[in-house]
Amino acid sequence: MNLTRSLLTLPPMTFAEKPLTPKLPADLTGRTALITGASSGIGQALALALAEAGVAVCLLGRDAARLTDTAARARRCGGTVATLALELTDDAALESVPARLPAAFARLDFLIHGAGIVCHGLLAAQPVAELDQQYRINVRVPYLLTQTLLPRLAADAQVVFINSMAALISRASNGQYAATKAALKALADSLREELRPVGQRVLSVYPGKVATPLTAQLHAEENLAYDPTLYIQPADLAGLVLGVLRLPATALLHDLPVRSVPRPAVPLPPSTGHSEPAFLSSASAPPGAFHPQPAFAL
Ligand SMILES: NC(=O)c1ccc[n+]([C@@H]2O[C@H](COP(=O)([O-])OP(=O)(O)OC[C@H]3O[C@@H](n4cnc5c(N)ncnc54)[C@H](OP(=O)(O)O)[C@@H]3O)[C@@H](O)[C@H]2O)c1
Repeated sequence: MNLTRSLLTLPPMTFAEKPLTPKLPADLTGRTALITGASSGIGQALALALAEAGVAVCLLGRDAARLTDTAARARRCGGTVATLALELTDDAALESVPARLPAAFARLDFLIHGAGIVCHGLLAAQPVAELDQQYRINVRVPYLLTQTLLPRLAADAQVVFINSMAALISRASNGQYAATKAALKALADSLREELRPVGQRVLSVYPGKVATPLTAQLHAEENLAYDPTLYIQPADLAGLVLGVLRLPATALLHDLPVRSVPRPAVPLPPSTGHSEPAFLSSASAPPGAFHPQPAFAL
């Protein structure tokens, strides 16, 4: 029996029969985004990537100079850029955000929580005040800001939480930070189930080590050599997140773990001022040697 479909003899294919063809990525032009932590690191990279994709961006940060610098870079993409410099631990300031948003951001398509802090230490010694401080910025702030902005979210809005691999793998010297990130995961998981029925989506991103000012600072605190080229580049991470934001409204990618891949260390010149192990600053580096890693994870 000849099974070849003949256009002459058979009726047109039904929807279910149609072959799957890859869709073009969604065009983000004209969408709007509010990004916290936009003055540095991952939040800044996301802000710039979104601006480049034609999204109107409202940048939240604390350091006015760094925020202005990010805004200037975003404006070179030609789209709408607004800034809000505020201290996120100030509840009144946080709750005033909707009233302070320019008219262009009356509706938000993307709410991106990029701000966060890290303090590390052994439970035996780390002050509980540092737990409170991290909980405040890493958990309470995204909770309250999301609650404040929920009425502004578009019908198909996406909320993105920049979490951490630490939420999934808790290591020594990392208990406080990991606990706050695990709490953030729980909040995001719950919010996702609350918003999914109305067509809004929630994404948690779990990066390993990313080459940001935060990572540089943590290496400096541990007196470790730091080579940013060895870690995930913020722009690469931003590209992955944008890929998720471009998914069709019928698809929900809810968790995006992105681990860094250790790469052989390049021996550093002896005059770096770091007290790295001798093999890293000498020509006798063993083959396949890696940069020593801080005793904590991000
Ligand atoms: N870097 C990594 O390897 C890594 C890995 C996994 C997860 N993460 C997570 O990614 C997020 C961003 O980290 P990052 O590496 O991009 O850090 P970063 O370069 O230090 O940037 C942190 C951002 O958060 C803002 N911020 C912090 N505290 C604030 C406050 N009280 N009020 C207002 N803004 C505040 C900072 O604003 P100012 O610049 O104005 O102070 C800055 O824009 C954090 O949640 C972190 O836990 C990072």
